Amino acid sequence: MTRTAMRTHLCGALRSDHVDEQVRLGGWVHRRRDLGGIVFFDLRDREGIVQVVFNPDWCEADVIARAQGVGAETVVLVEGTVAARPVSARNADMATGDVEVHATGFRIVGPAETPPIPVWRTKGEELPSEERRLEYRYLDLRRPELHRNLALRHRLLQRARLTLSDLGFYEIETPILTRPTPEGARDYLVPSRVHPGQFYALPQSPQIYKQVLMAAGFDRYFQLARCFRDEDLRADRQPEFTQIDLEASFVTSDDIYTVVEAVLVALWDEAGESVPAPFPRMSFAAAMERYGTDKPDLRFGYTIEDLSDFVRGRGFQAFDAALSEGGRVRGIRVDEGAKLSRKAIDALTEDAKQAGAGGLAILKRRGDELSGPLARLDGMTVESSGLQSGDLLLAMAGPDSVTSPALDRVRRSLISRLEVAPREAHAFTWIEEFPLFERDEEGTLEPAHHPFTAPHGDDVSRFERGDLDGVRALHYDAVYNGTELGSGSIRISDPELQLRVLEAWGLSREEAVERFGFLLRALRGGVPPHGGFALGFDRIVMLLAGAHNLRDVIAFPKTTAARALFEDTPTSVSQDDLLKLHIRTVL
Ligand code: AMO
Repeated sequence: MTRTAMRTHLCGALRSDHVDEQVRLGGWVHRRRDLGGIVFFDLRDREGIVQVVFNPDWCEADVIARAQGVGAETVVLVEGTVAARPVSARNADMATGDVEVHATGFRIVGPAETPPIPVWRTKGEELPSEERRLEYRYLDLRRPELHRNLALRHRLLQRARLTLSDLGFYEIETPILTRPTPEGARDYLVPSRVHPGQFYALPQSPQIYKQVLMAAGFDRYFQLARCFRDEDLRADRQPEFTQIDLEASFVTSDDIYTVVEAVLVALWDEAGESVPAPFPRMSFAAAMERYGTDKPDLRFGYTIEDLSDFVRGRGFQAFDAALSEGGRVRGIRVDEGAKLSRKAIDALTEDAKQAGAGGLAILKRRGDELSGPLARLDGMTVESSGLQSGDLLLAMAGPDSVTSPALDRVRRSLISRLEVAPREAHAFTWIEEFPLFERDEEGTLEPAHHPFTAPHGDDVSRFERGDLDGVRALHYDAVYNGTELGSGSIRISDPELQLRVLEAWGLSREEAVERFGFLLRALRGGVPPHGGFALGFDRIVMLLAGAHNLRDVIAFPKTTAARALFEDTPTSVSQDDLLKLHIRTVL
């Protein structure tokens, strides 16, 4: 419904078909120009910009005089007639460039102060700092890029809803004031006024509720769920964000893959990209072995190889020392890598060190000549090097926990330095069989994801034996071009097994019942086998919009310091208000 009581058309929608039509438009004066007694407005609305002309040939002198005084970003209602522009004045860069509106009158309905930041960039102009743009978000949001991103976000949301609804999923809302949900971050807490000293938590995810919905027989649930996590923020994280969250009953991992693939194919299609499904699958162990990460960017080659046998006992001290300590020597063979400059190799070495490795040893082959420290390995010859002319070998030693992240970093850096063309535009993959538990920095065992994930069927006896480090989980991630889009799992539906997993995490039976009793009760009440998934919606919009940052696809985002600059929050609260909540601050 674009026609309202005040206007007949959207500015950006006018075309040659509208010529001779009487129109009433509403919009922002994007730019005003006065040329020898004629006034031009570029009038802007959500749809785009149209040129409005106040000319003495069709417009009273006093209207023109008033138009001369209108400042940028003023909101006006304009009346006039659509006219074809003379051929010489057509503007092929504008969707409305074949027409203009011959205005006979206008009214200011929203006077505007001089904008503190420029609203639109002219070509080549730098954007104001992000801090200022977030502070004046109402102006920043007028930029066409942000309009495009939020329009895409809207379309993707609708498409996700429709796709899941068509697949038989019910959209069910779950509470925002809830109990803590363990997803690995801190909770945002909300004090209860009526229950002194008690707090709600904002949901880190709807995880437990969606499982309870399966116990309640809803069979298939989804929600465009707002989640809240108090964690250290990075470019790809926000303290509040949106998941496409889903859960289904009587399913195996394969069924969940099929549903998630259908959603992702639909979303990419909505953005004009056709992508094939099913997606390839790779175990967590294989991803770590070949790419050093559980989010490999499979658009590129450069897989990691185990070079331990190749270098063992050949006179390279650092390598032999690492091998004797149970580590491995691993590396990457780089076609055409010999062309990398010394400076580039130094930068790669620096990347490796920053990621925790001791260093990076190289071997280069040019024609029949080998160079680099590895050329001095005992018995090294051009033939035995395994390199083609122009190739480079990069190697490092240490435990896998050091070499995997370091080689991942080196591989990513290598790809950007060599400006390698991707083999394909869209590389989706499933990463599966994650470990059930991992150790934190102090060596304490904790669930690798959340504690409701079922152990892999082949590893249940291992779990029962208490050999927890090697137990794999029925957990899977969807990865796209090196970014984790989402994750999910088959859940524990046996209450006894659920209790034992919570105990393995370090909770006593009493603590487990105190924290998760409501879930345990639901599992005891008759629950089907079930599993699900959550896609990070903001990340998907960011990727499909070609944005570099989540803040560019969220209308009112937080900074990396978790502040909202426009509405200026968090804020302090009066002592009186705090006392009503039974809270005293200690600052
Ligand atoms: P997980 O914690 O992996 O799983 O979250 C799922 C996806 O949500 C996105 N995401 C975020 N996006 C923006 N900012 C954040 N702070 C943020 N944190 C996570 C990521 C991530 O892959 N309940 C489970 C899912 C399940 O098991 O069904 C869960 O929340 O894209």
